[in-house]
Amino acid sequence: MSPVEGAIKLARYATKRDKLIAFYGCFHGRSMGALSLTASKSTQRKGFGALLGGIEHIPYPYAYRCAHGHTAETCGAEILEQLEGQIFKRLFDPEDVAGIIIEPIQGEGGYVSAPKFFLQELQRICRQHGIMFIVDEVQSGMGRTGKWWACEHAGVEPDILCSAKGIASGMPLGAIIAKESVMRWKPGSHGTTFGGNPVCLAAALATMDLIEDEYMENARVMGEHLAGRLADWTKKFKIVGDVRGRGLMIGIEIVRDQRTKEKAADLRNAIVDAAFHKGLLVLGAGENTIRLSPPLLIDQEQADFAVRMLEDCVREAEKKI
Ligand SMILES: Cc1ncc(COP(=O)(O)O)c(C=O)c1O
Repeated sequence: MSPVEGAIKLARYATKRDKLIAFYGCFHGRSMGALSLTASKSTQRKGFGALLGGIEHIPYPYAYRCAHGHTAETCGAEILEQLEGQIFKRLFDPEDVAGIIIEPIQGEGGYVSAPKFFLQELQRICRQHGIMFIVDEVQSGMGRTGKWWACEHAGVEPDILCSAKGIASGMPLGAIIAKESVMRWKPGSHGTTFGGNPVCLAAALATMDLIEDEYMENARVMGEHLAGRLADWTKKFKIVGDVRGRGLMIGIEIVRDQRTKEKAADLRNAIVDAAFHKGLLVLGAGENTIRLSPPLLIDQEQADFAVRMLEDCVREAEKKI
């Protein structure tokens, strides 16, 4: 079961409230509850009918395309004003809100990071109103950004944290981690057939040792190395609009024109396909971003191979404009 389903239930159970707030662009999963929070691509919702009620979505701070011209450090102030000044005043009384859920770095949505201050303010607003601050680290967690959790870079401490994917090196496992004061299920109130699978748990314990001993530090070091190699790409290539991310979670946004920032999904797709034929597996994220999300054990030789191959593919794609 998706950890996000557990987080929805726990937030409602712990607060005895039912409203939830989520962000446009965020992806939280495809089961019915999680899908109600997901606002990434409408195809993910199309054909499935009515979803969970009592959910509002607000914009996610996207510094590269900030409507208010803010920087990566300050983008999002107006969104928080909207939350407090509009949502809480016109739609949901904050005392009815069980939780606010956010990806500290959007995965599916295009590898967009929420600024530090934004996560800190969100936490403050949650604390002020007794709302559960829920962080979805299914993609960004387990050492990928050089810390256990991406939200640690902002110095925040969620009430409920969702983890999966890297938690057991690909064995099927998800987890909700919550403060003891929050995780107060009564026996029988929550559980699942495959929860606590002993083989998956053994894989998770071994994975955690490896991450702690070497891979988290490797993610930080290799992430810095990759970021260094990609740092001048917006100068070097006309179709690279933005390079961003943390650790081994790097997004390269492809545009038709750096000035207008017109999204170039076709060029991005051409790059992803060409990379595949050169032996490099990369995936798209959002409408026009390439995501680099290699295994945490990547070494420098492999990272440099990836940069060289990608460089060739971007150069090829650039000839198409
Ligand atoms: C941030 C995030 N949350 C949750 C999920 C889980 O999605 P699902 O339950 O559909 O596998 C994913 C999967 O990609 C994800 O990236």
